[in-house]
Amino acid sequence: MPEPLVGKRIVLGVSGGIAAYKAIDFASKLVQLGADVHAILTASACEFVQPLSFAAITHNSVHTSVFEGWEGEHSGHVTLAATADLVIVAPATANSIAKIAGGFADDMLGAVLLATQAPILIAPAMEHRMWHHAATQANLETLRSRGVRVISPEAGRLASGAAGDGRLAAVDRLLAEARCVLGAGGVLNGKRIVITSGGTHEPIDPVRFIGNGSSGAMGNALAQAAMDAGAEVTLIAGPTVATLPIGVTPVRITTALEMQSAVQAAIVDADALIMAAAVADFRPAHPSEHKLKKNPDENTQQLELVKNPDIIAGISQPGLVKVGFAAETDDLIANATQKLQAKGLDLIVANDAVATIGASHSQATLLIPGHEPESLAEMSKEDLAGVIVARLAEIFARQVIS
Ligand code: C5P
Repeated sequence: MPEPLVGKRIVLGVSGGIAAYKAIDFASKLVQLGADVHAILTASACEFVQPLSFAAITHNSVHTSVFEGWEGEHSGHVTLAATADLVIVAPATANSIAKIAGGFADDMLGAVLLATQAPILIAPAMEHRMWHHAATQANLETLRSRGVRVISPEAGRLASGAAGDGRLAAVDRLLAEARCVLGAGGVLNGKRIVITSGGTHEPIDPVRFIGNGSSGAMGNALAQAAMDAGAEVTLIAGPTVATLPIGVTPVRITTALEMQSAVQAAIVDADALIMAAAVADFRPAHPSEHKLKKNPDENTQQLELVKNPDIIAGISQPGLVKVGFAAETDDLIANATQKLQAKGLDLIVANDAVATIGASHSQATLLIPGHEPESLAEMSKEDLAGVIVARLAEIFARQVIS
């Protein structure tokens, strides 16, 4: 699967705010995801955290002075700037933001930021009045106008004890932004993808429903893989999906009918629809407004069901690539081939229903009209998502040629 951080050289600029301690955790997560992290600490940052903390985590020397790093082939800030795939300043204090906006190069961070052509991400963290000050906002506007991406801080308890805007964005958000910037230009660059995920709940009465155990793991993995490949993702998720990946446009629905409306609205300007959701085939015909009572004289209860619309089969939008899933318990390939044709799909992912639903791994076969079935080895849903994204990119490429 696309691993946007693997082998990427990331320069992490740390400036002098109390949130500098969180940059140690951020550096560690980047390293765990395969990045080659080079930390620069400003003089003020060194008052809050030790360069050694970053050296121990990144296994690289830490830069604290613009006069270092001129040995052998290395030309100090120039080399660091030229070899970076991404520069992230986290935390960025009001002072460092002002200096960066002003183009100061009196320390290693300022010099690298002026010398680099890599994308720049800035994650501000400061006292809430400093954050809202016109000077800070004007400096950020200047940086944005130069293509710098600003990861807005979060609201909450600040180190001063006050509450307000100014907390450094959570490490997961910093990671998601870094993945997004590094994924730009991937095989799905500029594509808009709508993905559905999880099971739907069909109400019987206000407290009961018909549902299934789909966790949404496949939909989430697909959303992340598509974003890592440069796509913009709308994720329409049912109630069984606990959390959605950071960076998607989230749409929450409960029933199949709600999912149908959400899909129809989202695909208007989309390039592909991936229906990974386990949509309930039937819904109670007459959901009760009141909780159904047990009848002491009856051992059985009748529930009339009506068919839900087949969402993906009902969509025919010129140019929209349609990807479906077939979770089967028997005659896998024959049933999946029949669904591929009946629903007018460009790709169907066939797998064993019992082994797949709720599991972390999947053994799938991909069917594409006019192509031999591609039987894949058992792999994690994240890896399977990567293969599906690669096939989707190939389908887009064939669209351009034809
Ligand atoms: O017919 P079956 O449910 O096996 O088809 C599976 C595929 O069709 C999946 O991609 C699923 O998300 C989609 N589907 C749908 N609307 C339904 C039922 C399934 O779009 N009502």
